[in-house]
Amino acid sequence: MSFNFEHPPADPLESMRRWLAEAEQETDLPNPNAMNLATVGPDGRPSARIVLLRGLDAEGAVFYTNRESRKGEALEAHAHAALTFHWDVLTRQLRIEGAVSKVTDEESNQYWNQRPRGSQIAAWASQQSRPVPHRSTFLDACAEFEKKFEGTEVSRPPHWGGYRVALDRIEFWQERDSRMHERMIYLRRGEDWLTERLYP
Ligand SMILES: Cc1cc2nc3c(=O)[nH]c(=O)nc-3n(C[C@H](O)[C@H](O)[C@H](O)COP(=O)(O)O)c2cc1C
Repeated sequence: MSFNFEHPPADPLESMRRWLAEAEQETDLPNPNAMNLATVGPDGRPSARIVLLRGLDAEGAVFYTNRESRKGEALEAHAHAALTFHWDVLTRQLRIEGAVSKVTDEESNQYWNQRPRGSQIAAWASQQSRPVPHRSTFLDACAEFEKKFEGTEVSRPPHWGGYRVALDRIEFWQERDSRMHERMIYLRRGEDWLTERLYP
């Protein structure tokens, strides 16, 4: 068992990393790093979608996106988010909640440079979350950007970058028999963590 609910470690980061590693190594999930991202829009209403975790450290959990998208607008209005991983075959759920900040341009560039060229072109061509009249409108835009960047590296669009969700509240959830599941939360208290067991 990779998380000790009887003796929860003082810091949750190592256990989070282990659960992610096990989701990657012990399952055949195509996207073990997929997580639900919930935000609150300018109108105060929630919305949620799946994004991929691209970094995790003491500072928070990082994902990349178009900052002019619906989620980008939501985060501009309310810089807090909730992330949920569900690894069904491991009967585990991991939740993260926290304040959101933009990652530095340097960090965004670093990740951008590892992306396949096709994804880079699509990021330029996609006005993510905006209406597109036809699929061909998007495909034509991709072709145009292909031409524009022919023979050169594809630079990072100014509206594309990362967000970091701070680790303000973490929850480990493990299924047990007869719905007697285990839950442990970590609440950030300055440099320390407060742990609490919750009823399932
Ligand atoms: C498995 C999976 C992974 C995804 N990863 C990302 C991602 O890392 N970044 C992203 O912007 N969208 C990603 N998407 C698409 C989002 O779910 C969503 O459709 C898109 O970001 C637009 O959301 P919005 O209109 O709420 O801003 C992913 C979708 C799936 C199903």
